[in-house]
Amino acid sequence: MTVGAAPGRLPVLGHLVPLARRPLEFLRSLPAHGDLVAIGFGPRTAYVVCHPALVDAVLRNSRVFDKGGPFWKQARAVVGEGVGTCPHEPHRRQRRLTQPAFHPQRMNEYAAMMAEETSTALRTWREGQLLDVLAAMNTVTARVTVRCLFAADLSPEEAGATGRALGDALEGMFWRMLTPPGLRWVPTPTNRRFRTAIDHLDQVVYRLIATHRRDGGGNGGMLAVLVGSRDDNGDALEDREIRDQLLNFTVAGTESTAALVGWALHLLAGHPEVRQRLHTEVDTVLAGREPTHDDLPRLPFTDKVLTETLRLYPPAWMTSRTVTEDTRLAGHFLPVGTTVFYSPYLIHYRPDLYPDPERFDPDRWSPGRATAPAGGAYVPFGAGARKCMGDTFGMQEGILTLAAIAGRWRLDLPPGSTVRPQPRATLRPHPLRMILHRRHPGQE
Ligand code: HEM
Repeated sequence: MTVGAAPGRLPVLGHLVPLARRPLEFLRSLPAHGDLVAIGFGPRTAYVVCHPALVDAVLRNSRVFDKGGPFWKQARAVVGEGVGTCPHEPHRRQRRLTQPAFHPQRMNEYAAMMAEETSTALRTWREGQLLDVLAAMNTVTARVTVRCLFAADLSPEEAGATGRALGDALEGMFWRMLTPPGLRWVPTPTNRRFRTAIDHLDQVVYRLIATHRRDGGGNGGMLAVLVGSRDDNGDALEDREIRDQLLNFTVAGTESTAALVGWALHLLAGHPEVRQRLHTEVDTVLAGREPTHDDLPRLPFTDKVLTETLRLYPPAWMTSRTVTEDTRLAGHFLPVGTTVFYSPYLIHYRPDLYPDPERFDPDRWSPGRATAPAGGAYVPFGAGARKCMGDTFGMQEGILTLAAIAGRWRLDLPPGSTVRPQPRATLRPHPLRMILHRRHPGQE
């Protein structure tokens, strides 16, 4: 393993300028300088792991490489300390508390809700309409997360506003990560939107908690588990702790899955031959009806389209860890407090792992062809103890939503439009406006 340094480091600013202006290009330039590459994160030295084995080593040692560093500091400002943001020590208990919501037996029930929410959204679509696809997907995924996991409900308007608030909160989170602390309270438009967004999310979540405490838990869900839970002293969790936990899931599960489906629709519009194969699969399996949980294994091409989409545009494109005790990585000494970044995006574009990495090729994942990526080579959901809790949930939601859309609609980009990856707390397609065409005219 080699250790290197990124060129072009400036005094004080380090590499903040390329990180803010063109982070994706900057990340992709790093493997040329080593497997572990030092960058200037402002005046401090941080490291980026550029080799899959090092990604794996970092992710599988979540005690020494704990959630911390600039990304998690800002995430905690938004969602407090829940299962996704807490440090190593309380993590196991938090994960145990919330894990039952993802029990495989529940996935069947969730599939029905996912299909229902998608079909509610699709009923509002009109032939020839220019749709803000990411906003539409955010509304669906916000409602799905809240309904499935918390057994609570959001009206479509509330879900739309929540989706937008999440977008603003995540945008603010990213800029605040790159901004010196003193400037974070300057009332710039981004900072103002950030505060308004957090107030909105708080209002929604506290309302869900209050309604639950008043009316009881219906069919259970994570909200019921959290409200009924006792800490080590036998005391109930406070509203603030429950709020943090709920926001952890809403933030982790909403925009990521919306971005996944949005990117898939964008890639399909640019690859008509792939889209045709998807349509054929969906038409054969569903024959005009809505997808169900039982259909999931019968939609392997839809699955491959999403797997490849996650390679090209991993929503969680970069996150950080902090070193909790002096350690060595790639033989290099890292003192306690060092920040280490890992980026699924960087790894997924390594040509030695994925030949012709720019190419959208779902067949990479065909059983005969795929050289199952070794540890750390395909990490859209992370790995180790902090691996995404919603990986199955998110993929299932992606497959069901994409199949339901593809069964009825073809989405095209308006001529001359340019969609760019917008790297914020998630990697979003921006702006993603697409024209809707009914695939079977006359069908509702
Ligand atoms: C395509 C969709 C998704 C992607 C790409 C994604 C990606 C990720 C990644 C990369 C991590 C690890 C971050 C790190 O190592 O620092 C993570 C963690 C997490 N994700 Fe997801 N996620 C998705 C969907 C979801 C959904 C739908 C939920 C819940 C409904 C969810 C809940 C979580 C939680 C709770 C964690 C923290 C786990 C822990 O620290 O123990 N995610 N996700």
